[in-house]
Amino acid sequence: TNSDANSPTTDDSKTEELHFWKHVEYIENHGKDQDDYEYCMTEFLRMSGIYWGVTALDIMNQLERLDRNSIIEFIKRCQCPTTGGFAPCEGHDPHILYTLSAVQILCIYDALEQIDCEAVVKYVMSLQQHDGSFFGDRWGEVDTRFSFCAVAILTLLKKDLATTIDVEKAVQFVMSCCNQTDGGFGSKPGAESHAGLIYCCVGFLSLTHRLHLLDVDKLGWWLCERQLPSGGLNGRPEKLPDVCYSWWVLASLTIMGRLHWISADKLKQFILSCQDNETGGFADRTGNLPDIFHTLFGIGALSLLGFEGLKAINATLCMPQYVMDRLEIKPQILE
Ligand code: FPP
Ligand code: ZN
Repeated sequence: TNSDANSPTTDDSKTEELHFWKHVEYIENHGKDQDDYEYCMTEFLRMSGIYWGVTALDIMNQLERLDRNSIIEFIKRCQCPTTGGFAPCEGHDPHILYTLSAVQILCIYDALEQIDCEAVVKYVMSLQQHDGSFFGDRWGEVDTRFSFCAVAILTLLKKDLATTIDVEKAVQFVMSCCNQTDGGFGSKPGAESHAGLIYCCVGFLSLTHRLHLLDVDKLGWWLCERQLPSGGLNGRPEKLPDVCYSWWVLASLTIMGRLHWISADKLKQFILSCQDNETGGFADRTGNLPDIFHTLFGIGALSLLGFEGLKAINATLCMPQYVMDRLEIKPQILE
């Protein structure tokens, strides 16, 4: 910030600060106004919304601003008594995505004993198919996101993967979604590489300790080509940059030990330019309206970049590192 005439960095004016307390306020107030249009329209992902807010606040060391008891009571009401899975909110159907969010929140609150964990394990086991893939719910959609969710849930519940699911088949299915041209992964065999799904597959291989199966140079190259002149990252070639891809791409590179392959300073600038200086929160890109999803991934990416004042985040599980340490969970990462 000092204007040394000899300094080669002339664009200090562009470097914004992190509006820390605005973001705390934004997350704390999110969901307080239950008549709010956006809140009502996102009912179908309420459980994940709570996970995004809880995680972001914990990374900012402000977890006590949310009401732990009412969140745990809400989660308990969302566990389906017949399947063991979790719905996004009361009255909806269970899905593996919301089951992972529920388990993540309970791990952060150190409150897993409040739910029926064995029923959750049975739910996850029931979703694995003969080809090793996982359904997201009883309707039968298959996606590599669900393979990640399955092993993440079992890991957080401290279950031995080898005795609960067919790990070899699960790994085979994920590897069948790897594209030889770019080393990336899609949602199913033959589907185009996409940074969000690469995070899921790299995270899956990290949790199953199979990172040696990756072509790190090829995939790392494709991932760092996601950085655009603005400093932001996109999820596929020709797409616009988006703050959430700062997470999907950066977390994948971190797990692969290749975080230094992108320009951290330019990415920080891009992420900070996506803050809403008035309401707090982060938008997907500069000038757009903020939301709780992009707020977590903005804060999470800044944490991966070692931004001061933020707690460390675990790249594989997108949860505070101290929670992983407390649970003694060590996903594989490459040096
Ligand atoms: C992009 O979605 C992101 C993905 C496909 C990855 C989603 C990852 C999970 C659900 C796993 C759980 C996540 C965490 C952090 C624990 P999009 O629909 O926005 O894609 P688009 O940008 O192509 O529209
Ligand atoms: Zn996004």
